[in-house]
Amino acid sequence: MMAAYRAQPAFCRGVHTLAVSADLFKINRKRLCEILKNKVPKGALVLLQGGESETRHSSDHEPIFRQESYFHWTFGVEEPDFFGAIDVDTQKSILFPPKLPDSYAVWMGKLLELEDFRVRYGVDEAQWACDIAQVLKTKAPSVILTLRGMDTDSSNYTREAAFDGISEFKLDNIALHPQIMECRVFKTDEELEVLRYSNQLSSEAHKEVMRCIRPGMYEYQLESIFRHYCYYNGGARNLAYTCICGTGDNGSVLHYGHAGAPNSKQVNDGDMCLFDMGSEYCCYASDITCSFPANGKFSQKQRNIYEAVLASSQAVMAAMKPGVSWVDMHLLADRTHLEELKKIGLVQGDVDEMMKVRLGAVFMPHGLGHFMGIDTHDVGGYPEGTERIDKPGLRSLRTVRTLDHRMVITVEPGIYFIDVLIDAALNNPEQARFLVREQIDQYRGFGGVRIEDDVTVTEDGMECLTCVPRTVEEIEAIMKEGHNRPHVPLPQETEKLA
Ligand code: GLY
Ligand code: MN
Ligand code: MN
Repeated sequence: MMAAYRAQPAFCRGVHTLAVSADLFKINRKRLCEILKNKVPKGALVLLQGGESETRHSSDHEPIFRQESYFHWTFGVEEPDFFGAIDVDTQKSILFPPKLPDSYAVWMGKLLELEDFRVRYGVDEAQWACDIAQVLKTKAPSVILTLRGMDTDSSNYTREAAFDGISEFKLDNIALHPQIMECRVFKTDEELEVLRYSNQLSSEAHKEVMRCIRPGMYEYQLESIFRHYCYYNGGARNLAYTCICGTGDNGSVLHYGHAGAPNSKQVNDGDMCLFDMGSEYCCYASDITCSFPANGKFSQKQRNIYEAVLASSQAVMAAMKPGVSWVDMHLLADRTHLEELKKIGLVQGDVDEMMKVRLGAVFMPHGLGHFMGIDTHDVGGYPEGTERIDKPGLRSLRTVRTLDHRMVITVEPGIYFIDVLIDAALNNPEQARFLVREQIDQYRGFGGVRIEDDVTVTEDGMECLTCVPRTVEEIEAIMKEGHNRPHVPLPQETEKLA
């Protein structure tokens, strides 16, 4: 009998979720071939190797597989241990799934046939991975283009395809990487639809967290509500990155939530919350940060800092359009923060002079935003010919490019009160002269505020994909909605499990 999905080559998690057609990946392959056509010899073949299955040491537990990002962009294959090839001239594609032993049918379910894979992923041909050398010989490619290149964000190298017998072919591992990386920077309409979906889902999940939070909860309980919401309502099995649920002072720890600080603090009345969480759907990410008071009502100090960050977010979004430098947007956010901090008396003096000594980086040490797509920190931020700017704050930018139509980038300004940075600035006479120590001391332990949205650059401006309450009034209104719900006892208010 035909597998059910033969009729529907798409990624889908039910009628309430988005169906992502296999055409999305076909269009990506077409774009890649068109760009490569004039740059590589006739008869060239692109060859990619997908991610591999892993079994945890000394156990039969298999972590949930997540496809390698370039392979996903090109083929949309959900499973491990595949190869994939594309004939650049004809744009015809072949997938090479692994041939599993018959015994796997007992553990993994009915084994699929080549035709199942061909239809499921909408490619022209499917052949077993164990036959790859013979199959490629019959195609007689003039050269095989493999993927080798460094990711400027992680400094990791891509996995270059390799199989027994590959040395009998002429290989080129230089030509492909810069071209496919550049293709990934510019999102198609089909990709934007998926990014919109994962953003919509994560936005709704953030709103639910805002309704549910109460002082007395643990940070990880809010992470859990977010995860559940995304999976239950939107079919998102994976999140795009580790949840950051910092409350109180933890909001100033930029990568809070890691194994050593696992969102385990109890939320206090009066805490500011900084929750950075995003789901991924069909491997397309969202990356959203909401900052709000744990008890649902902004104090004056919380409002001061929140509105300073909101001002910079709004200034940047109003200025974004093709042709605008991302470095200038970072500087615009810095300048807006300093102007706002001056209004509330935390800094004093001439803002132009503050900019010269990079005072903004004391409060926002990270970059303003990064490309986003199949990877949360997506590729292409530093193509050949661009360089990092070695100055505080700016050196953390994950791209220094000029904005262009179809780029997707996060806008994530923040103001944080990080003791080590404040103390260093107070000890640096160039910077200390602008800081009002007694006022800043009042904010130590405050944590931080970040407002993070995912944005796509349009022909003449930008479209914000994220849709969460952003003004103080909107945030207080949605939190009040939650407070009006009947109280469901928390686990910590009922009997102990252990
Ligand atoms: N959540 C990771 C980031 O904002 O870059
Ligand atoms: Mn984030
Ligand atoms: Mn981000």
